Amino acid sequence: MTTTDMLIDRIKTHRVFDHPLYEHWAAAPPSAEVSGALFHQVQSFCASTRPGGDFPTALRGLGWEEQAVLIEEIVDSESGHGPELATMAGHIVNRTGAQVFDDVYDTERVEEWLKSSSDRLLAGLPGYDLATGLTPQAAAAIEVFRRRFSSDADTTVRNLGTALALEIISNQSLIPGEKRALIDSGHYKADIDEPEMHYMAEHWGDAGAEQQHEANVILAVSSVMDSSNSARIEEGVEDFLESLCALWDVLDAALLASGLRPAA
Ligand SMILES: [Fe+2]
Ligand SMILES: [Fe+2]
Repeated sequence: MTTTDMLIDRIKTHRVFDHPLYEHWAAAPPSAEVSGALFHQVQSFCASTRPGGDFPTALRGLGWEEQAVLIEEIVDSESGHGPELATMAGHIVNRTGAQVFDDVYDTERVEEWLKSSSDRLLAGLPGYDLATGLTPQAAAAIEVFRRRFSSDADTTVRNLGTALALEIISNQSLIPGEKRALIDSGHYKADIDEPEMHYMAEHWGDAGAEQQHEANVILAVSSVMDSSNSARIEEGVEDFLESLCALWDVLDAALLASGLRPAA
């Protein structure tokens, strides 16, 4: 039977775990618009991963009270992270040298501008949706998290696998990758102690939110996984890994690896 350790190993050896997107982002300073387009796609995806939907209730329905509480703790700790991510994105965009925002705490204005950058740079991609500013790959990755609004047993078990992959990737790959690109690269002269970078300070490292999320979800999965449900849990893991990898591939190719820069 598949064990939680085997799933963790699968996640950490998937191509998305060490995706070249992070390295390319860290290698050369993207323009304000390229940074904005990246943040629009990333923040739209991240927003879809925060709501618990019916997932905790559905876990309770299967008799998994402790697991429901562990997932609820993760969901609760996500409150306010949307605006904090927008603030960090606005700050980074300003630090490219273009003083785009007077007020990086104006979430609506920042998010609008990020979307408009995405529209300017990515609207020509096949299937790009002008209403949402989403690439089809972002929409597909978001769709995986819509399953939290279905409460049948099969979907609920599958959602556990998706949650496991989400939290391990967030803690060990995505947040460290963003930190390398946004802070360690020096492109943006951004520091983790700046108030506008609070999102990063809150998520990164041994005391970060993602560390706790990862511990919670590993406990939730390992305490219920058995031979009757492990294949379903594994499917949920794959759904996450494949959909995020496709999103990173298209963003890397369209914005970073190709060296595309917007017209001045
Ligand atoms: Fe968060
Ligand atoms: Fe998380």
